[in-house]
Amino acid sequence: MVAPTKIIAGLGLSLGIDILLAPGATGDYRTLLTSKATAIAKALSVPLQTPPFIFVPGEDEHRPGRAQGYDFGFLHIKAIDDAGHDKASILKVKALEAVDRAIGQLARLLWQAEKTDNFQYYLCVTGDHSTPVEYVNHSFEPVPFALCQLRDFVRSVGESNINNVSLEPFPLPSVNAGEDLTDIIKETQEVNKDLKAFNGDSVCQFGEIAVARGCLGRFLGSEMMGVIKKFIKMKNE
Ligand SMILES: *[C@@H]1O[C@H](CO)[C@@H](O)[C@H](O)[C@H]1NC(C)=O
Ligand SMILES: *[C@@H]1O[C@H](CO)[C@@H](O)[C@H](O)[C@H]1NC(C)=O
Repeated sequence: MVAPTKIIAGLGLSLGIDILLAPGATGDYRTLLTSKATAIAKALSVPLQTPPFIFVPGEDEHRPGRAQGYDFGFLHIKAIDDAGHDKASILKVKALEAVDRAIGQLARLLWQAEKTDNFQYYLCVTGDHSTPVEYVNHSFEPVPFALCQLRDFVRSVGESNINNVSLEPFPLPSVNAGEDLTDIIKETQEVNKDLKAFNGDSVCQFGEIAVARGCLGRFLGSEMMGVIKKFIKMKNE
C-alpha cells in the first residue's frame, strides 16, 4: 500500500499490509502522484527479495506477501478529499485531472512490466466516500467503481498513447486568480463529446451519476474484493 495519509496507512498495517515508501508523496496538495504510481508499479513487478523500499523496520524476515512478490497494490490519493473539505471547486477538478494523468503513468509502468515480464494486471479505481464541495464534508451516497483488465484498457486507449505517456513527475496544478469554473466545465464538455464506452456496459464517465447505469449495479464495500476476484476469474476462463 502507498498511503502517506497516516489513518489509511494505519488501516493497512492493521490488516497486515506492507506500507511502501514513495519519496515526495505527502498525502496533501504538495504530493507527487508519479512517485506513488512508481512505488506501486515497482512492488507489483519485482520479486519481494530485491527492493529496499519496504517500510517494516527490523521485520524484514517476517514480511507478509507472496514469496514471488505482491499480487495486490493499493494506491491512496488524499488531495481530492482535501479540496472538498476546503471548498476548492477548481482545485478539485484540476486535482482529479492530475489523478487521471497519474493513472496513465501507472498504466504505462504496469504495461511495460506486463510486456517484458509476463505479468497480468487489473486496474480498479474507486473511492471510500464523496466529499462534495457544496457540503464541505463527507457524504454518504454510493461511490463510483471501475474495474478493467490492463490489456483491455491499453487496447481502448491505444498502445502508442500508453507508451507515449510522460513519466516525468509533476506537481498538483495550482489555481490562478480569476480562473473560472465555467470555462473548465466547457472544456470538459468538449472532451466528453468524444468519450466512448469500450467494454462491459455503456458507461464512459467516472462519476456518481453516470455509473448508476453500470452493469455491476450497486453493491456493498464488503463485497468489493469478491467482485474483483470474480472478474479476474471470469477473464481467465
Ligand atoms: C463534518 O462531519 C463531522 C462528522 O459528522 C462533524 O463532526 C464535523 O463538524 C463536520 N465538519 C463540517 C465542517 O461541517
Ligand atoms: C507523443 O507525445 C508527444 C508530446 O506530448 C507528442 O508531440 C507526440 O505527437 C506523441 N506521439 C504519439 C505517437 O502519440
